[in-house]
Amino acid sequence: MPPKQGQIITVGVTGASGAVLAQKTLALLEEDPRVARIHLVVTETGQRLFAEELGLSSGDLKQLPSRLLGRPAAKIEVLPNKDVGASIASGSYDVDSMVIVPCSMGTLASIANGASDDLIARAADVMLKERRKLVLCIRDTPFNRIHLENMLRAEQAGALIMPAIPAFYHQPKTIDDLVTQYVCRVLAQIGLPQEKMYRWTGHSSSKEAKA
Ligand SMILES: Cc1cc2nc3c(=O)[nH]c(=O)nc-3n(C[C@H](O)[C@H](O)[C@H](O)COP(=O)(O)O)c2cc1C
Repeated sequence: MPPKQGQIITVGVTGASGAVLAQKTLALLEEDPRVARIHLVVTETGQRLFAEELGLSSGDLKQLPSRLLGRPAAKIEVLPNKDVGASIASGSYDVDSMVIVPCSMGTLASIANGASDDLIARAADVMLKERRKLVLCIRDTPFNRIHLENMLRAEQAGALIMPAIPAFYHQPKTIDDLVTQYVCRVLAQIGLPQEKMYRWTGHSSSKEAKA
């Protein structure tokens, strides 16, 4: 079946390392003709990570998408994380998929335990109860038992746990190669396969990306 057009995607960004993963996800979604709207929610620590890792000093949140993309962002709407009454907090609002990238152990814990204590956790809770796609790009290392148990709880409730672990079989030369391949794998999981994604064909010498 061809991918649905006019998709609505929620992107949550939390205070785990990997702000560049969020930046790449937003860039690929913004330029994807299958995507109509992107709701972006960034936690307070997520904003701090944009500053720490990408040098984006805090400013007007509404300007964040264009500052991240380096060009005007037509599809991205920023929603305040405190606004648990935003559209995406209700199952009656038709979000196709949600990706939390990167996802901290703190937000994973909120989701795994149904806390719904901020907009990201509530929107994720809605995705699970409505049986919609939720991808958690968790990041930390090493994991303790609580992290592992929370991953299992979230997975059993319907989330896809997609640790921010890079692949090396496509022989990456740059950080962007690593980041792009990982984000393409994430987007493939929400039904948005990317032409840029390297696909292993059984031979390490084959560098061709096949759609
Ligand atoms: C520079 C920095 C890097 C961090 N990296 C991680 C990380 O990789 N994984 C993680 O789970 N928490 C990490 N943390 C801790 C979280 O930001 C912290 O637990 C925070 O409360 C998470 O809140 P949030 O989920 O609302 O963003 C980091 C914090 C800072 C300041």
